[in-house]
Amino acid sequence: MISEKMVKNILQVFKSSKIKNKYSGKRISKHSIQEEKKRLYAEEDILSKLEDIFIIGPVKLRQIVHHFLEEFRKGLEYDDYSLAMLPSFVTKLPTGQELGNFISLDLGGTNFKVCKVYLENPYQIRVQQKKFSIPETAKNADGERLFDFMADSVESFLKDRNINKEKEQELGFTFSFPVRQTGINSGELYLWSKEFNCSNTKGKDVVMMLNEAFKRNKINIKVKALVNDTVGILMASAYSDPQTFIGVVLGEGTNAAYVEKIENIAKWKGPQPESGKMIINTEWGSFDEEKLVLPINKFDELLDQNSLDPGKHVFEKMISGFYLGEIVRLTCLYLINKKLLFKGQSSIIFNKPNSFDIQYLSRIERDYSIELSDTKLILQDLLLIPSTTLSDRRIVRRIVELVGIRSARLTACGVVALLNQMNKLDGCTVAVDNFINDYPHFINRMRDAIHELLGSFSENVNLIHTKDGSSVGTSIIASMVNE
Ligand code: BGC
Repeated sequence: MISEKMVKNILQVFKSSKIKNKYSGKRISKHSIQEEKKRLYAEEDILSKLEDIFIIGPVKLRQIVHHFLEEFRKGLEYDDYSLAMLPSFVTKLPTGQELGNFISLDLGGTNFKVCKVYLENPYQIRVQQKKFSIPETAKNADGERLFDFMADSVESFLKDRNINKEKEQELGFTFSFPVRQTGINSGELYLWSKEFNCSNTKGKDVVMMLNEAFKRNKINIKVKALVNDTVGILMASAYSDPQTFIGVVLGEGTNAAYVEKIENIAKWKGPQPESGKMIINTEWGSFDEEKLVLPINKFDELLDQNSLDPGKHVFEKMISGFYLGEIVRLTCLYLINKKLLFKGQSSIIFNKPNSFDIQYLSRIERDYSIELSDTKLILQDLLLIPSTTLSDRRIVRRIVELVGIRSARLTACGVVALLNQMNKLDGCTVAVDNFINDYPHFINRMRDAIHELLGSFSENVNLIHTKDGSSVGTSIIASMVNE
């Protein structure tokens, strides 16, 4: 933020008689000093209004944590509660002795991943992986199309490795959309997220749909486990670090899983597990769909209204990789329309929804150059904004920062609420996976907010990055299923 003092100092430099305009060599006139002064105050004004909209103070953070705890309780009690708190059917954490090799499929965003995971020991896990980009059309067509695409990709993966598709393979399926599991390898899809919306799928068993697609392609595969990515990440981290009790995904979507005592899961009607525990997939993307505590602003509202599922996953829409760029874009568009940014000029690309990629956010946050030259490149060369001033770029950079900070602070609220729910303030590893691996400052911003909320207890919280944990975790789970 530019302070009054900084404005005065900058103007002082302009006033100094030795300073000349670098292009004309002429002394800077009183008029341009006045112009510069006006511009700096205007920038200051815009930034402080944006800060009011995006910054979440400590009182709000506490309110959100408190509401999370109330919602956890309701989700654990009622079957169809908006914060779903889904039993994962995983009742044990790994011992580190789980071995074997498995095919692991991972569907959860832009790419579909097929892996062969070799569990040799917790410190020696080999993964061979192939990514397939999901055709846009398959995301919103009949479900059969998407499941056939997955079966085709598996066939191509097996072929590349000379694995006979008729020989039975065991498989773990990471399916990262809201599913009510009915067993360790079955579960009904009840909602799509992340702008997927395939018809003829809701209420159906996703493993059954996958098996049918395998049958159509004559692939002999046995699905041993159906797993949400957060559960996979928790298990993968717990394989080598038994203190891991929370797995968080911050990718195109967001979600968290944690270890709950079975007696706290009032809605659980199944057998009592020996361990007395069950991993719960919170589906926290749906937190506060009633909009009681979240500081939702006009840009969040607009994004939600334009999405495929208005009113759903509102927490996710404030936090995750698929949406952050869109919040930045909508905020910029608002300023453009008011002629407060880019001299009121946008571009065809910039006007297109979702054109502000999450990678641009990371790059802009990493741009420490005086002229903000990478920001300029992104805005002018990639997004084709006709021209930008340094002041424009400073404003865009601050918007990006504010959106990123808000996301990290909201995520921290969810983590702190889970730590409280488990009574684990004395020590817990929290495994965090996905886009934040490449996003500067994210983990530190989460740490700051956790510190604000927990004070010295925050030292007992070990936040770690993991990479591709879900495929490994799903294979670990598959190896634990005895049939
Ligand atoms: C889905 C979750 C998933 C998360 C992260 C959300 O949109 O509902 O099931 O875990 O994205 O991939």
